[in-house]
Amino acid sequence: MRSDQSSERKEGMQKTAESLSSLAEEIRSCTRCPLAQGRTKAVPGEGPDRAEILFVGEAPGRDEDLTGRPFVGRAGSILDRCLDEAGIDRSVVFITSVVKCRPPGNRRPKKDEVEMCRPYLESQIELVQPKVVCLMGNAATRVVLDMEGVTELRGKVFREIFLVTFHPAAVLRNRNLKEAFVSDLLAARKKAEEER
Ligand code: URA
Repeated sequence: MRSDQSSERKEGMQKTAESLSSLAEEIRSCTRCPLAQGRTKAVPGEGPDRAEILFVGEAPGRDEDLTGRPFVGRAGSILDRCLDEAGIDRSVVFITSVVKCRPPGNRRPKKDEVEMCRPYLESQIELVQPKVVCLMGNAATRVVLDMEGVTELRGKVFREIFLVTFHPAAVLRNRNLKEAFVSDLLAARKKAEEER
């Protein structure tokens, strides 16, 4: 946790969110930041209550905003394909993003939007208790680790559970990253298996 404000918000939230589903309900009706006004649906994330691997992206895009589900657009297709290649079944992992509502025109989420949404991600990680958290891209790496530079950090594990990797959209833009991305997913799977 970074700030007193964030920790107060999170404590308040955890009193009400005893479970992931009640947290998801809270996210769906959230009006904490201006992104709420432009959304069709908030995208809390999805996956089993006790997933061994939890993935964090950046923000919902158009397809996610319309469906309320994470990574169902083009970035989702490449994520699915890479999960497959790494032998990871999407239905057993938890997938979410740093902010839960689509920024207009798919712009980067702003600092205050990220801060307002941060307690939701922190609560999800605490509730799911994953063995590995895959931070996909700079936004996820920044909010959790306060570090920058995925190209340098990828493949490395921080604070025992946080594995940095590329965002699937970066892999879409540059297919040369795919091999490294799949190898990071494989490392996440191995780490989760070793800790069973
Ligand atoms: N990109 C993200 O970071 N999250 C999604 O859900 C979709 C695209």
